[in-house]
Amino acid sequence: MLKSITAKAIIPVTVAITGFVIVGCILLYSIMKADMIADAVKYETNLANTIVKSTRHAMLKSDRETLRNIIDNIGTQEGVEHVRIFNKKGLIMFSNNTGEVNRFVDKKTAGCVECHTGPVPSATLGNMKQARRFVNEHGGDVLAITAPIYNEPECYNAACHIHTAEQKILGTLDIGLDASPLLKNLSVMRGRMVVFSIMILILTVGGVAALLKRSVFDPIKRLTEFTGEVMAGNIERSFPEGSGDIERLAVNFRAMAAKLNSASEELRMLKGK
Ligand code: HEC
Repeated sequence: MLKSITAKAIIPVTVAITGFVIVGCILLYSIMKADMIADAVKYETNLANTIVKSTRHAMLKSDRETLRNIIDNIGTQEGVEHVRIFNKKGLIMFSNNTGEVNRFVDKKTAGCVECHTGPVPSATLGNMKQARRFVNEHGGDVLAITAPIYNEPECYNAACHIHTAEQKILGTLDIGLDASPLLKNLSVMRGRMVVFSIMILILTVGGVAALLKRSVFDPIKRLTEFTGEVMAGNIERSFPEGSGDIERLAVNFRAMAAKLNSASEELRMLKGK
């Protein structure tokens, strides 16, 4: 009987706590993952804007040598997978991968299609829409950002008169960073959360089990022994105090047994007459 009570009390508690912990952990993990990716995107957007700003002077002077140098140097930085500048037609003007310079990219490719979805391309992008994640040809995870290079009065007023004032966008900068440190952090976090959940699970289930044993199972066991002894005729036996309802039950049981005893005694005396 005790075993079945134990099972009935502990199993639902364990199942419920496990469910809560798993759901809570999944929720927490997905929120933290989204936050970390948003942070990485923000960092990369800032980096892209910094690069656009630092190339501004060279672009105004149409100094291709300096631009090529800047892009090459950025490309040698650790963690930079690719960096390229497209002109407005989708031609790769500068890239750290010299093999792809002068190649055309379709506006349907990732990094372009975000603006070029509708009939009228949008000139601005939200931070998260600028970002895309993909696996490169070496199997590395890359988080890439496309930053528009906007037309400015100084560009269309420059002596070369290449750009007109109507153009909003002169080109785009595309930079991709190695996403493996981010993924590694996420997997470390996942591992820690699993350990943490198991710890919480063991502690709560253990705590609940100890509590149940102390305040329910042990008194019930004592009650079973007590009623057994009373049934065997040991009416004077007392039940340990301080068990609340169970103690009252035991006292009532003993009183009932005593009444039954005296009733049968009387019956025997009547019969004996
Ligand atoms: C930030 C948004 C944005 C991104 C990213 C972007 N474009 Fe554009 N693109 C525009 C806008 C806006 C125009 C319209 C002309 C203008 O205002 O300068 C345009 C015009 C063009 C045009 C000429 C007009 C046409 O529709 O044929 C081409 C070609 C083009 N883009 C190709 C690309 C390619 C290729 C990429 C990716 C490497 C790209 N664009 C990325 C916003 C974007």
